[in-house]
Amino acid sequence: MNINIYKTKEELSDKLSKYIINNHLNNSIALSGGSTPLLLFKNLNKKLAKHKELNTKFYWVDERCVSPDSNDSNYKMVKENLLTNDIFKSENIFRIKGENDPQKEVISYNNKLMNSLPLKDNIPVFDLIILGLGDDGHTASLFPHEFLKFRDINEVLIATHPTSGQKRISLSEKIINNAKEVIFHVTGSGKKYVVEEIINQKGSYKSYPGSYINPKSSNLSWYLDFDAAEMLTK
Ligand code: 6PG
Repeated sequence: MNINIYKTKEELSDKLSKYIINNHLNNSIALSGGSTPLLLFKNLNKKLAKHKELNTKFYWVDERCVSPDSNDSNYKMVKENLLTNDIFKSENIFRIKGENDPQKEVISYNNKLMNSLPLKDNIPVFDLIILGLGDDGHTASLFPHEFLKFRDINEVLIATHPTSGQKRISLSEKIINNAKEVIFHVTGSGKKYVVEEIINQKGSYKSYPGSYINPKSSNLSWYLDFDAAEMLTK
């Protein structure tokens, strides 16, 4: 496990975008939503603005069951902050259709993964999955209250947000752990306790879905700012 700590979220986004450009520019990348990755998307967009056409394949770690033009849409955030140049081919943007019936979309999206990615143990293999982390230890849309029932699922699944009840389409733990590389991108002091408990396997870590992200490739990295890493450095 590699742990990379940077003073600010701005420096973190700069370094992580450089890592992605140097190592994953023409690979399959699954992106998370939430607020953390916004700076990363903007950084990537700026650095790639003058690039020639790329073969990067973009997927989503999860998506809220909302319209793609909803401010809640993870796709919308990527479209508006990363996919503004015409350097990515439209056929390489694999959007989860949050507007569709969830029962149908999980089947449809799982088929997209099976047909566009290599398989290992009949489970899709991403080159890179970038995960966020909630202060309750959730990652993707794998939330503590229902996580255990999903642990044996190989496919894409329907999750439910614990407080809003919002339906979400999410990669499963098994798909995430089948990736060649997984990165946790976490910033802010609100995450410092859950980060420390997961990395040091202490406290309530067993109740955190983030604790079960252990890719078979062993290629797991954390990209943290000082605030999120504060308890690690005490
Ligand atoms: C989502 C994300 C989710 C996110 C965490 C952290 O759809 O919201 O996939 O797993 O990464 O909730 O969110 P923040 O970056 O906003 O703290």
